[in-house]
Order: sequence, then C-alpha cells, then structure tokens
Amino acid sequence: MIEYMEDWFRLAVDHLPVGIIAIDREGRIQILNRLLAKLTGLEAENVLGEPFLKLFDGQSSGSNKLLQTLATGREYQSLKPESVIPVNAVTNLVSNIYAVKNKSGTTVGAVAVFTPERRLQELEKTIIKVEKLAILGQLATEMIHEIRNPLTAISGLMQLLQQHLKGTPKEEYVTIILAELKHLNSFITDFLLMARPGYCKPTQCSINQLIKEVVALVECEASIRNLIINLGIEKNLPIVNADRGQLKQVFLNITRNAFEALPVGGELFIQASSDRQQGVVRIVFRDTGTGIDKQTLANMFNPFFTTKESGTGLGMFISKKIIDNHGGHIEIQSEPPSGTTVTVTLPVA
Ligand SMILES: Nc1ncnc2c1ncn2[C@@H]1O[C@H](COP(=O)(O)OP(=O)(O)O)[C@@H](O)[C@H]1O
Ligand SMILES: [Mg+2]
Repeated sequence: MIEYMEDWFRLAVDHLPVGIIAIDREGRIQILNRLLAKLTGLEAENVLGEPFLKLFDGQSSGSNKLLQTLATGREYQSLKPESVIPVNAVTNLVSNIYAVKNKSGTTVGAVAVFTPERRLQELEKTIIKVEKLAILGQLATEMIHEIRNPLTAISGLMQLLQQHLKGTPKEEYVTIILAELKHLNSFITDFLLMARPGYCKPTQCSINQLIKEVVALVECEASIRNLIINLGIEKNLPIVNADRGQLKQVFLNITRNAFEALPVGGELFIQASSDRQQGVVRIVFRDTGTGIDKQTLANMFNPFFTTKESGTGLGMFISKKIIDNHGGHIEIQSEPPSGTTVTVTLPVA
C-alpha cells in the first residue's frame, strides 16, 4: 500500500485548484504541482530535487520569503508572487507560506500555496454582502415590531366599529379590513420567527408532551370542521434536547398545513417513535388531504412560496430552518390526491 501512497499524494496535489511549491530542509524543491508549473512555465521534471536557489539564476535571494520561512520558521500570508518565487508568475496571485515542522518543532521544510487573488476578493465581497444583509435583517425586524403595535390598535378599533355597523351594508367593509389585518398579523408573526433562527434555547423536551400541547391548540378548530386527529405516540420516548417553543411552532405549522389541506371529516395521524439504533426520534404527520403536486413539492421550502390565497409561504421555510438548526431532518412524501406525510427526525439528547 505504502509504495502507492506517494503516487496518490502527487496525483491529489497536481489536481488541486491552487499552485504549490515546497522545499525540504536542504532547500531542494520537493513539490511543484501542475497548476504552479503551468503558471510559471517551470517544468517539474527539470526542477524537482534541484536546489530552489537555482531558480534565482544569479539574482539576489536575500529577501525571498520561502527561504526565510525555511531559515526562521516564520509564516507569511497574502504575499505577492515575486517575493516567493523568482520567476514571472501570473500577477493576480497571492501566496501564503507555511513552515513544515518535525515532532520537536524544528523547521524541516517550507510550502508556498498560491491562490488567485480574484477568488479572495470575491470571498471578501460575499462577506460584506452577508454583513449588509444581516444589518438589513435587523432593521427590518425592528421596523416590523414598530408596525405591529399600531396594527393591534387598528384591529381593536375595527372590532368596535364592526359592532356599530352590524346589520348595515357597511359591515362588509370592516369584515374585509379585519381579515386583511389578520393576514398581516400572521405575516408579522412568521417573519419575526424567521428573523431569529439562530436564537435557540435548548432544554430537555418531551415530544409526547409537546404533541399533546399542539393538539390542544387545534382541537377547537378540529371539532368545528369535524376533523379527526389520531395519536400514536410510543411510550417512554427518549428525551430530545431542543428549543421547546421552536419545536412547538414546527409541529403547529405542519398540523395547520394538514388542516388546511383536509376536507371536512378528514383525518390527521400523528405518530412518534424512537429509532434507538440511529439515535433519533421520528415524528410522522400523515393527512388524508389534497396531497402536494410535484411543482409545489419542489418549492414548498422556499420563503414566501404559497398556493393559498391568504398564505404567508413562511411556515415550511421556518420549520425547515428550525429543524436543521437542531441537527434534524424534515421530509415530505405525497401522492396526490391521497394525502401527505411529513416526517421530522430529531437526534436524541
Ligand atoms: N399537508 C399539506 N398538504 C398539502 N399541501 C401542503 C401541505 N403542507 C404544505 N403544503 C403546501 O406547501 C405550501 C407552503 O406551506 P407553508 O410554507 O406552510 O405556507 P402557507 O401554509 O402559508 O401556504 C402550501 O401553500 C401548500 O401548497
Ligand atoms: Mg402553512
């Protein structure tokens, strides 16, 4: 095996998308990978095993950083190529130099890695963009909070007005306004939840308990629409380390979606079981609703994607974010028109 190792190593180094040159303790070139050979015009068969100094061809090598690293063990970052190799290389490269040390910490070699400068700049640009987005996100969150307060006042006053206008032709206007306000409000609730996905306070959660709480929240609606909820929860389910509020939100989102897809008299099965071998708890929500077509299935985790007139399209997006944050998975299976199965898998504490 060992005899092939070197070949594998060379093959790997030759195919890296960065340029590499390495010298040993005696200052002899031990590695010149394919990309750097191409960029510098050097040929590996001519320089491997040869002294690095040979490349200088009579010029001074005094300030060469690769040799300095070999001599002092000091490492360098973002150097211009000309301070590393005395050969005209493509100018838009930057180089980092690393010292190779043996077990006792003595420098026994030096490696220079060249990366295209453009890549670094792109990376920097991306970081700035992400930071800007984060600030925008914070601003938006604060704005939304500001919007919520007057909205609550408007809703309250509208409800009063509705009582005044009861039985008159104008009552319908207020009803429409109230419905729109309700939609706005659920949008805000979902947005605020989404705006703090990183905010996660894990505690020891009983899934059994959580499911029962969610069912209690929707029981009233279920009885009005004659929906049947069947629970199948394994006894002694292991405890899950999770943010209680967030998990509840996920289960509620999935249950609400199921309800919205169910016809009168439809059924929702909620099953929870543990897979001790894989160290997970699996919670399965199966409804006998409309099912989900392929296009919706492909998009339903995207933010703002909804097929409902008054949907926010944030429920599944947020749910997936929360479950991902907990190291779990969320999976959807559907065969329209015979219903949908949503499976949430969570690691056991
Ligand atoms: N159980 C389900 N049955 C049928 N369609 C579903 C189900 N769950 C989700 N969907 C589809 O996924 C879309 C996105 O869901 P969601 O992100 O919760 O947003 P919203 O419920 O506000 O539309 C829904 O509009 C619906 O088309
Ligand atoms: Mg929803």
